[in-house]
Amino acid sequence: MVDDPKAGIGAIRRAVAVLSSGGLVAFPTETVYGLGADASNPTAVRRVFEVKGRPVDHPLIVHLGALDQLDDWARDVPDAARVLSRTFWPGPLTMILRRSNRVVDEVTGGRETVGLRIPDHGVALEMLRSFGGGVAAPSANRFGRVSPTSADHVRADLGDDVDFILDGGPCTVGVESTIVDLSGDEPEVLRPGGISADLISQVLAMPVRLWGGERDVAAPGTLASHYAPEVRVEIVAVDEVPGRCVEVLASGLRVGVLGAEEIHDLPVEAVVLEAGGGPDGFARVLYERLRDADRLGLDILLVQPPEPIGVGVAIHDRLKRAAHVRPR
Ligand code: TXA
Ligand code: MG
Repeated sequence: MVDDPKAGIGAIRRAVAVLSSGGLVAFPTETVYGLGADASNPTAVRRVFEVKGRPVDHPLIVHLGALDQLDDWARDVPDAARVLSRTFWPGPLTMILRRSNRVVDEVTGGRETVGLRIPDHGVALEMLRSFGGGVAAPSANRFGRVSPTSADHVRADLGDDVDFILDGGPCTVGVESTIVDLSGDEPEVLRPGGISADLISQVLAMPVRLWGGERDVAAPGTLASHYAPEVRVEIVAVDEVPGRCVEVLASGLRVGVLGAEEIHDLPVEAVVLEAGGGPDGFARVLYERLRDADRLGLDILLVQPPEPIGVGVAIHDRLKRAAHVRPR
């Protein structure tokens, strides 16, 4: 594996060459790093699933470099999708649309729909535009684990299983894109993310459903247990944090605290992790802090999240999944 700490022209060329020859490239986006393959190459796409350890029926998002590619990859594109793509692309929004004939089964797990997105990241856009085709990419982590928000995270997770890592610095949004399904009668948000359902609803001037149930895997990957670090995550209200810290310490376990607000009266033994300011700052560092908690060998991480508004909805969603089960 060769990589380059500063993604200059040489690194982007290299990434494009690797994609063109059927290799896997980890690349930066504004949300999280992706593990990319040429979306038109079924063998390359199959390798993404192998490396991730992901079930083959969990479809991948196809990343595009320009708006005029939309109709190459989707058909019967509704007006709502045109409006959203013009408003939010490049940006943290994935649209589920009916797929065109060029989309191979390997990408969609045989579904008739495809997820499309133009990421808002200079390095990613250069790579995608220079490559010219679609890049199918899940987040560049092993299945079920925390998504990577830096090239170092990718290196730590995937090592030599990826052919090239394009380093574009830390991700600025920090949680995965909002997924909105526009293939049915009514728009439905399948996964909250950087762009809120409220904003989508405002822009479309129509109600948007929020998927929240456990019914047949609407967006496979929105499994109850996902985004899971080793540490046990507990979501705790601000005034309950000090007391819970004392309890955890009394049981002989190591406790960490990640608070959206400054929390007073914490026992000195509690390890305080620094959250960024406001919901956006919190989202930006969330996955890094979950990794920090594991690196520090904490047993329990008490998280006091920001209000569930804007990207705060996505933070709550990911924390619930991280808190659900701890894979060992
Ligand atoms: O921000 C993001 O979306 C990042 C960056 C790399 O773009 N990607 C990402 O990919 O989070 P992944 O594979 O980890 O999550 C994509 C989600 C999965 O839950 C998948 O099931 C869902 O999108 N998805 C993709 N295509 C779909 C489709 N046709 N129908 C329903 N869900 C789909
Ligand atoms: Mg993922």
